[in-house]
Amino acid sequence: MKATWKLADGREITLDVAAGTSLMEAATARGVPGIIGECGGSMSCATCHVVVDPAWSDRAGPPSAFEEDMLDITEAGRQPTSRLSCQIRMTAALDGIVLSVPEL
Ligand code: FES
Repeated sequence: MKATWKLADGREITLDVAAGTSLMEAATARGVPGIIGECGGSMSCATCHVVVDPAWSDRAGPPSAFEEDMLDITEAGRQPTSRLSCQIRMTAALDGIVLSVPEL
């Protein structure tokens, strides 16, 4: 399955992501710029912030209540389809998902 990260400088990075892998883990393993994942996925850093392409946001689902709170303190500022990418796990339904990495 694939996911694409659009960077603030216009580059796009498309990676193979195994089912069950979080999009933060996939991005940090391959060095996608701007995705840090400092807390390892425990929802305490918000350095995995992405903006889900609106065409994919329904399939990605809404953030949990705790994730909502973390999104309010992201460095780049929250957008309507912002998510913490450590909380999105790849499934067949998300094959092809497109995310933007906010500019800091
Ligand atoms: S990796 Fe820290 S909140 Fe997602």
